[in-house]
Amino acid sequence: MKCLVTGATGLIGQALTQRLVDPIVTSRRPEGLSPMSCIQWPVTDTTPGPDDPIDVVFHLAGEPVAGSRWTQARMDAIRNSRIDGTRQLVSWMATWETTPKVLVCASAIGFYGDRGDEVLLEDSQPGSSFLADVCRDWESEAARARDLGIRVVFARIGIVLAEQGGALDKMVPPFKMGVGGPLGSGRQWMSWIHLDDVVGLLLHAAESDISGPLNTVAPQPSTNAEFSRVLAGQLRRPSFLRAPAFALRLGLGKMSDIVLASQNVLPRVAEETGYVFQQPTLEGAIQSCLSGKGGRP
Ligand SMILES: NC(=O)c1ccc[n+]([C@@H]2O[C@H](COP(=O)([O-])OP(=O)(O)OC[C@H]3O[C@@H](n4cnc5c(N)ncnc54)[C@H](OP(=O)(O)O)[C@@H]3O)[C@@H](O)[C@H]2O)c1
Repeated sequence: MKCLVTGATGLIGQALTQRLVDPIVTSRRPEGLSPMSCIQWPVTDTTPGPDDPIDVVFHLAGEPVAGSRWTQARMDAIRNSRIDGTRQLVSWMATWETTPKVLVCASAIGFYGDRGDEVLLEDSQPGSSFLADVCRDWESEAARARDLGIRVVFARIGIVLAEQGGALDKMVPPFKMGVGGPLGSGRQWMSWIHLDDVVGLLLHAAESDISGPLNTVAPQPSTNAEFSRVLAGQLRRPSFLRAPAFALRLGLGKMSDIVLASQNVLPRVAEETGYVFQQPTLEGAIQSCLSGKGGRP
């Protein structure tokens, strides 16, 4: 399976490319990425296509969503890097001598917005929020690849847990200092997934005949309070200091959506198509991240 990966230098892209044989990657900074073949991102219609036919394109590139405060400029970058980037990718693929068989495009559970306790499956309606709008439009751009005869999968990725990087990088320090605890009411659902399963599901999406949305989440979402309890337990620290929602909104602005929105998402398509999770439980996933090479505790 010959693959091209955009956003290959990111958290998910690095883990994915390690599982691929001689992938072609794209980057805004291609220098220093050898021995992998690297193409300058963003691509245009005049960017030469890959030398050899590509079977699968994994599209992961995009301005990071978490991190610094959502100013208008950052929100524009989050949106434009995905919508314009995906449009340009599809337009570039149309110029290739041989079109790929599959486009696996990242999306996010932000697609569903803030939905309380509602169980969210792949056919649930989109929510209404900045991220929901971005995800919906991002998927629409990717769907245009169907006109080229390409099978398209939207991997609606949940909160990624990894040894290094990802959500735990931000969550562990306050717990280690003994000031961790639930965020807001703690009742909001967190649909998490271990990085190994993100990669596993992206490969599953490429190799199966899935078409359309693929909830890329573990089968056991947890509430934020439960997540905090498990994390604190494994770090052997308390978890009673609740961060009130108003303080989070004040401190993080609109970005507080990321930690306060409730998304109870289940991986129905993954399970129906026979994917076996490597880290199905929260306890196991957190333990694997904390005891890995990163050695967080
Ligand atoms: N990690 C998560 O928890 C999570 C959850 C849901 C969805 N996702 C989605 O999955 C995809 C991959 O996630 P990730 O965590 O691996 O992302 P990441 O670590 O932030 O990496 C994304 C890559 O995109 C490129 N990039 C960054 N800013 C860009 C910009 N303004 N314009 C174009 N390209 C840019 C960078 O590659 P170069 O610098 O080499 O160009 C970067 O390595 C993203 O689209 C993300 O939204 C991730």
